[in-house]
Amino acid sequence: MTAGISAPGRARIAERTLRTDRWWLSPLLTTLGLATFVVYATIRAFSGVSYWVNDYHYLSPFFSPCVSTSCAPGSTHFGAWFGDLPGWIPMGFLALPFLLGFRLTCYYYRKAYYRSVWQSPTACAVAEPHARYSGETKFPLILQNVHRYFFYVAGVVSLINTYDAIVAFHSPEGGFGFGLGNVILLGNVIMLWAYTLSCHSCRHIAGGRLKHFSAHPVRYRLWTWVSKLNVRHMQLAWTTLGTLVLTDLYVMLVASGAISDLRFV
Ligand code: FES
Repeated sequence: MTAGISAPGRARIAERTLRTDRWWLSPLLTTLGLATFVVYATIRAFSGVSYWVNDYHYLSPFFSPCVSTSCAPGSTHFGAWFGDLPGWIPMGFLALPFLLGFRLTCYYYRKAYYRSVWQSPTACAVAEPHARYSGETKFPLILQNVHRYFFYVAGVVSLINTYDAIVAFHSPEGGFGFGLGNVILLGNVIMLWAYTLSCHSCRHIAGGRLKHFSAHPVRYRLWTWVSKLNVRHMQLAWTTLGTLVLTDLYVMLVASGAISDLRFV
């Protein structure tokens, strides 16, 4: 082997690592966290049940936009563009692949799953199990560069989720009303926007490729705002996984009749 820890010039150390702290804890927790979300989201997306509360117009984000005749009556906020779907196609099939692509290619998630799942590298000063390393210079990882395009689609999906959250201010008698479900839906949308706008691609779109910020005061102002969010990108990445699960879970519990929505108005 001539690469990695066996490359010429690297110290010859027989042990995988000389670290004595619990360096494995962080990658383990990351793997468990990501796996929990993936399993939950996959089960829910393919379940096709309890995603719409007709009384209050709550729609789970995993099923939005719902655009087929298979969708529950009332949940097709943008119309039914497709006929009945076979059971193996999730109701949210239009947005889910793009959202998955957006998160998979996200700079933070890349770091998280490269270190935890792929173990490249597992941790600082811990030899990785792979004999060769080509980074993101070759297929398939070079495809991570499409992240900037997923960003635009994620913006559109955030707009759709915002519309869903607004439509949900509904009372069964007609007119305005809101309950705990609205607070959860709105909180989720706010966090989704914060995550989306804190994206590294967004920061580059706002202020990248400029030679003189002083000549572009508006873009400079946008860049400073995005930069403030950008330093919290990791926290927002995890928080939004939590708010997505919480929102879907709450809608599922109310839609299935397991709990009643706590109404304020
Ligand atoms: Fe994480 Fe773009 S870098 S969403």
